[in-house]
Amino acid sequence: MRKSTAVAHANLAFVKYWGKIDHALNLPANNSISMNLSNAKTTTSVQFDESLFGDEILIGSEGRPANPSFSSRVSNHLDRIRKEANVTLHAHVWTENSFATGVGIASSASGFAALTMAACHALELDLSEKELSILARKGSGSACRSIPSGFVEWFASEKSEESFARQIAKPDHWDILDITIAVSQSEKKMSSSAGHKLTTISPFFPTRLATLPERLNLIRRAILDRDFETFGQEVETEAISLHLIAMSSPHKDSDAWLSGVYYWMPDTLELLIATQDWRKDGLQVYFTLDAGPTVHLICPDSEKDQLLDAVSSLQSQRSERLWNVMVNRPAEGAYIMNQEEA
Ligand code: DP6
Repeated sequence: MRKSTAVAHANLAFVKYWGKIDHALNLPANNSISMNLSNAKTTTSVQFDESLFGDEILIGSEGRPANPSFSSRVSNHLDRIRKEANVTLHAHVWTENSFATGVGIASSASGFAALTMAACHALELDLSEKELSILARKGSGSACRSIPSGFVEWFASEKSEESFARQIAKPDHWDILDITIAVSQSEKKMSSSAGHKLTTISPFFPTRLATLPERLNLIRRAILDRDFETFGQEVETEAISLHLIAMSSPHKDSDAWLSGVYYWMPDTLELLIATQDWRKDGLQVYFTLDAGPTVHLICPDSEKDQLLDAVSSLQSQRSERLWNVMVNRPAEGAYIMNQEEA
């Protein structure tokens, strides 16, 4: 059978997906809005093969076998696609990220978007963008936002067939940048999937949900109007709201009682305070963060050089700082590579 290769970019949420109403189907508690990231992409090839007795999942250019937990997540997702196509064949899967794991960008969004697209193409399943987004969502929620191009909104619904992502604006609509600063290379303490489960414990979660409809409207409108100030203020407040929920969700870990989850590292906090200082000095910059210590600075293209200098001088204040800095622009959605490119 044919070998199909797909490319998908990771995405950065401006309104976060934090909390689910259905954990098996990845149905989110709220709509979210994101942008695809130009320099963070996954390339995945899939080939179904009748001689295989199980799926074979290989990672990176050197083709190292995937660990059992990742392999079973991929096979479970392939099962959904096999069911859709009414086939039982196993597959060879080769997947590679353009960015190192541990740079603070989750690879599950680009990974499951690329896997969905490549596997559907290999099985000649002719699905619409909406159907691909729904399918990718079942692999990892945020993956549904990596299917459409540019700036994207994912709709919350109790019905699986109504929870998909759709474009708000094309990638070239607005030349804003994401400067990703990974301050730590170590694995985060709690996965996003586990973090989603704790959200309802926080007494502040209902307040967060109540504030989101207005914030979604403001952020959607600000993207369309290219209104950087409103956009930045809402995006920054939104990121803090996610972390407030995480920090106020008591739970147990290794039998110890913990009052909440702290995703930040000392360098994270220094960067958040520095962002406020840079703003006071006249730079147009706001931050956002996902469930980890990595800081994303959002700025107009015109501020890039000054901000990169400011970040580098902050980094050089301590020799032990091994930050990984990456610049991302709004990027296209998932696509199939033609055979010559692959
Ligand atoms: C904090 O999509 O990784 O990055 O659906 O369980 O795979 P699962 O979760 P995932 O959650 C991402 C959470 C976030 C915010 C966001 O990207 O919207």
